Amino acid sequence: MNIQFQPNTLYYGDCLDIMTTFPEKSVDLICLDPPFNSDRRYNNIFKNSGLKTEAQIKAFDDVWHWDEASAERVQRLKNAVANPASKVIAGFEGFIPKSKMLSYTSYMAERLFVMHRILSDTGSIYLHCDPYASHYLKLVMDAIFGEQNFRNEIVWFYNNRLARKSKNFSRLHDIILLYSKTRNPTNNPIYDENWKPSPTQQRRLERGYEFRKGDLIIYDEKKFNESGIDKSQYANVYYSSADQPPVGDVWIIPILNPMAKERLNYPTQKPLKLYDRIVKASSNPGDLVLDPFAGCGTTVEAALINQRNVIGIDILPFAIRLINEHRIKPHGKEPFPMQGIPVDMDTATQLAKTAPFKFQDWAVSLINGFAANPQKVGDDGIDGFGMLFNTPDNLERKAIIVQVTGASGSQKAKYDRLHANVRNENAAMGILITLDAQNAQRNWTHTLESVKFGASEYPPIQCFSVEEYFRYDQDPNKILKLPSLANPWTGKQMQPTLFDF
Ligand SMILES: C[S@@+](CC[C@H](N)C(=O)[O-])C[C@H]1O[C@@H](n2cnc3c(N)ncnc32)[C@H](O)[C@@H]1O
Repeated sequence: MNIQFQPNTLYYGDCLDIMTTFPEKSVDLICLDPPFNSDRRYNNIFKNSGLKTEAQIKAFDDVWHWDEASAERVQRLKNAVANPASKVIAGFEGFIPKSKMLSYTSYMAERLFVMHRILSDTGSIYLHCDPYASHYLKLVMDAIFGEQNFRNEIVWFYNNRLARKSKNFSRLHDIILLYSKTRNPTNNPIYDENWKPSPTQQRRLERGYEFRKGDLIIYDEKKFNESGIDKSQYANVYYSSADQPPVGDVWIIPILNPMAKERLNYPTQKPLKLYDRIVKASSNPGDLVLDPFAGCGTTVEAALINQRNVIGIDILPFAIRLINEHRIKPHGKEPFPMQGIPVDMDTATQLAKTAPFKFQDWAVSLINGFAANPQKVGDDGIDGFGMLFNTPDNLERKAIIVQVTGASGSQKAKYDRLHANVRNENAAMGILITLDAQNAQRNWTHTLESVKFGASEYPPIQCFSVEEYFRYDQDPNKILKLPSLANPWTGKQMQPTLFDF
């Protein structure tokens, strides 16, 4: 699919591929919160899936592992001499060979290099880090952005979380590394809205002026003029407009609590207040803000409410849909255009041809409650899975497996393979996702038992087609008959809407 640079757009895909197409110096502020250790893709409901491939899924569920792709990436980076992080990665290879950390830092080095290219001369970049990786990332950032452009290591202190007794001191903060493109970044002072003047400061503010060792300090010119004092009596007259000090590098902002109104239940969601502060500090109205790992769009909303233009990128199609639904629409705005996401049969067919894995992930994401299989090769034809919620005790089979095919025409062979997979994997059901609707109408036979929940019975193999998805208002419930499912990210019961996070 053709990617075009366009502010106020959401992009589905790997941010590397998308940012590579952006013009040089086109973005004024980049905020990124990439996934790390703590961000497992799925809830541990898969532990009890009963699937024979459970172990495999769990291995790939860990976002960072050393594999062939990591080895190729490290090699590629070592050859990419124009990337200043090339030497840092080569050094890491000597120090932590074939490790998860090398996999992660090399992945970030490729992307941070592109971010440097697209950042404007007055631009800044805020890199939200995991404490296990922040020191490695700082070296990569020093190489790419230059140590002279390192501005701050911001400590985001979550003051609403209490420390607990444990082997280590409880973690109560995150690190955010701030670098600028040049020595002259946009830099607006930020004042803490919870700041309260001390009694002395309060008196000063009320009076409008004060004397110090013969000097005069004017806080409020109007109040001072009313006092009738003669300024010329003083050797030094200072004007101080705000008694309130600007915030330092420790930001005290509560972490989202489970009942917070802004909570969308996206597993790694950050508070709006945090990103609002970043946007205000390092951009001006009309500037373009980019979040290449947008998640549920905290940065997007912060930019929107501060009259900035914004671009969000995420590799999960449902995250992109969630941003439009919960971050843009509530502000009375038209949904942002989505690039990389099929919008009709033509674009779906094109995606299936040009990027089959991306097509698979997108197709699986269309059914509420299903997650894509992170393993793409040697996946036994299992492209996604879901879990039944509250299965009857006597039912061992809890998983529903999904197989996707982007080929046109009859898919009988795929149907037979899914049939065998459901049996071999001891899954409860199977869903075949095809491009054309014709497959759904065929009465192909199978020998599997249906799944019974109380009085309801569900067919063990069902077909879902992209063609019907577009035909029936993009509502999977009009095509499939499914029992209640567990949300793969939270383990809770999946709600009936597509955006139940
Ligand atoms: C830690 S979360 C970001 C959370 C976000 N700050 C928020 O408040 O919602 C990281 C996000 O990066 C996405 N992601 C991971 N790899 C990506 C890639 N290569 N390109 C774009 N997005 C990616 C994940 O799907 C996830 O939504």
